[in-house]
Amino acid sequence: MELDLNNIPQHVAVIMDGNGRWAKDQGQMRIYGHMNGVESVRETLKCATELGVKYLTLYAFSTENWNRPKDEVEALMSLLVDTIIQELDELNDNSVRLLAIGDLESLPASCQDALKQGIEKTKNNDSITLILALSYSARWELVNGMKKIAAEVEAGNLKVADISAEHISSSLTTAGIPDPELLIRTSGEQRISNFLLWQIAYAELYFSPVHWPDFRKEHFKEALLEYQKRERRFGKVSEQIRTH
Ligand code: IPE
Ligand code: IPE
Ligand code: MG
Repeated sequence: MELDLNNIPQHVAVIMDGNGRWAKDQGQMRIYGHMNGVESVRETLKCATELGVKYLTLYAFSTENWNRPKDEVEALMSLLVDTIIQELDELNDNSVRLLAIGDLESLPASCQDALKQGIEKTKNNDSITLILALSYSARWELVNGMKKIAAEVEAGNLKVADISAEHISSSLTTAGIPDPELLIRTSGEQRISNFLLWQIAYAELYFSPVHWPDFRKEHFKEALLEYQKRERRFGKVSEQIRTH
């Protein structure tokens, strides 16, 4: 079956999982899996751009991932810095705008610098926006958002009765970015792991058995094909949705 180019999700979010198991299966260290995951990021980004996806959010490091062994955390952080620096020209060549969400101040200074540079140097690109979720968790984001709203109320700028879903959306790190229509998780795990809880309220969920370092264009297209088969009812009944 062919993809319908008139029904491509605007925003796809991906929980890139399975790097460690992929490496272990080959008798390698976990970081070997993370390093090989970079090629999967390249392929996914390229495929998403070609198909007309406008936002691609990748869960690269969660708040909870800080609890991993120190060696792995350090290796992940330096992989992040090296990758951003290495890929910058490629991002610009393909008109990719880079953004990051999460508790960025908790990242090492070298990561913050690489990110700032990457974001600044790609800010005028408009083919696709690549959003890296780093030191991100949905509960961290929601707590921060609630604090911002409470501060507005405390300052007398907002009435409690006026707080709306839009206020909450715009208090989050994804303010201004449309909600993902499709969430992909690789490696066979079927959980959300504290990712974009508010934003995925009506996302279609797709679980791929493939470990992230093996994830290629055909797997991404497979996810989109499956998305196109779903009937998104948003609470209505099927007859109200079908237009033909
Ligand atoms: C995903 O792969 C990458 C990160 C969470 C940083 P994992 O490292 O979680 O790999 P598994 O799940 O242990 O195989
Ligand atoms: C989720 O993967 C976080 C990222 C992909 C960055 P994990 O591998 O950390 O998730 P859990 O702990 O298995 O749920
Ligand atoms: Mg994992």
